[in-house]
Amino acid sequence: MAGSGVFEDIIEGDVFKYYTDGEWKKSASGKSVAIINPTTRTTQYKVQACTQEEVNKVMESAKIAQKQWAKTPLWKRAELLHKAAAILKEHKAPIAECLVKEIAKPAKDAVTEVVRSGDLISYCAEEGVRILGEGKFLVSDSFPGNERTKYCLSSKIPLGVVLAIPPFNYPVNLAVSKIGPALIAGNSLVLKPPTQGAVACLHMVQCFHLAGFPKGLINCVTGKGSEIGDFLTMHPGVNCISFTGGDTGVAISKKAGMVPLQMELGGKDACIVLEDADLDLVAANIIKGGFSYSGQRCTAVKVVLVMESVADALVEKVNAKVAKLKVGPPEDNCDITPVVSESSANFIEGLAKDAKAKGATFCQEYKREGNLIWPLLLDNVRPDMRIAWEEPFGPIVPVIRINSIEEGIHHCNASNFGLQGCVFTKDINKAILISDAMETGTVQINSAPARGPDHFPFQGLKDSGIGSQGITNSINMMTKIKSTVINLPTPSYTMG
Ligand code: G3H
Repeated sequence: MAGSGVFEDIIEGDVFKYYTDGEWKKSASGKSVAIINPTTRTTQYKVQACTQEEVNKVMESAKIAQKQWAKTPLWKRAELLHKAAAILKEHKAPIAECLVKEIAKPAKDAVTEVVRSGDLISYCAEEGVRILGEGKFLVSDSFPGNERTKYCLSSKIPLGVVLAIPPFNYPVNLAVSKIGPALIAGNSLVLKPPTQGAVACLHMVQCFHLAGFPKGLINCVTGKGSEIGDFLTMHPGVNCISFTGGDTGVAISKKAGMVPLQMELGGKDACIVLEDADLDLVAANIIKGGFSYSGQRCTAVKVVLVMESVADALVEKVNAKVAKLKVGPPEDNCDITPVVSESSANFIEGLAKDAKAKGATFCQEYKREGNLIWPLLLDNVRPDMRIAWEEPFGPIVPVIRINSIEEGIHHCNASNFGLQGCVFTKDINKAILISDAMETGTVQINSAPARGPDHFPFQGLKDSGIGSQGITNSINMMTKIKSTVINLPTPSYTMG
């Protein structure tokens, strides 16, 4: 159970503590932040409302610990990460329980998130040992005008303190996708969890604590964004920010100083369906891609662009599958569970109402109880409807009927987002041409968009993000190149 057994140190009374200097602490503010269970809509947990002064102390601890960590052999860093991964997986049940209660993730998916996170940490350890164990050796005579008098040795060094801000929908997995690369590369870490998902994050941090990482290396502060959000992202002690979330990322990028940024800010992933597509495969992928975790994934299928000649058949197949989706509480492993908050449900409802007013065909009746919204396929959506462009982050999938491939590509590229997209066709030549034309970070051919496997590069164009993620890219992003040049008094040519 949450906050018990090996996790009993992380809570006092009914408020979960924050973590710094290798210890679990109560905030001097005496205040807490309530976490509302999306299903019951009542307070499920409480976390500390940390102060700016506490953030300053955390930053100082992280800075000191990083200096020592950077001198810790790579194999030892990897060994600790493997240990943390094993502890995390061992305690998957209580952490998954937090995900069910805080973000209404279906029970089975919650366990999968924790296990996937353990695997991700182990992979970071292995990949780090490989790529950080190598550097480059360059000689000067390849550049015009130079003799071979300079030897350049370059290697990767840590950035310093990494600020990691994961989103509510994968609070554990998208936290460790930042923590793992940061730590193996020799950085220290300050984690600011999302409010919904904070308690799962705190449990995950305890697994790192139990693994025996040095004190101050990993820190986790909780609190109100209005109090410590900007203070954290603009803090002079931060040397790198890795953020996943929504528009807040744009604001952060404007305020952050001279620090490398890694950002993933959502998407409006298009699913282009050609006449020759296997429609059963497409329908299955629209269900998986559009409705899993109730559409609350940045990589969800957020608009279907289907050729008119096969649109009726596809809509019929998708509707048959929508009818089979189980709607209800996450504890019962339902496919569609309540969305994360009332404001989120209101936003989704606003998109549905706008589409209704402008003449979209509702394939199912719109139904909502509290934060629970029944799955909805909207056919005959047109570009003047908000749902054609905005990201619902809910169980609503719009279908736009197109008359040419160009029309589909044009709609995809007219979006401000550019995360992923997908194309369904049996013609690989057409698929490649469409993939090349789509302005998105990734295009999936004959499958729904997805971030994983976690070592694949993951990046968004335009408003979807900055930089590239995936284990290898994140490790590289969280390092800098350092060179040492040996200057010889006379040219020296090997075997010369
Ligand atoms: O919500 C954003 C996530 O990065 C999507 O990850 O494709 O594994 O669901 P996923």
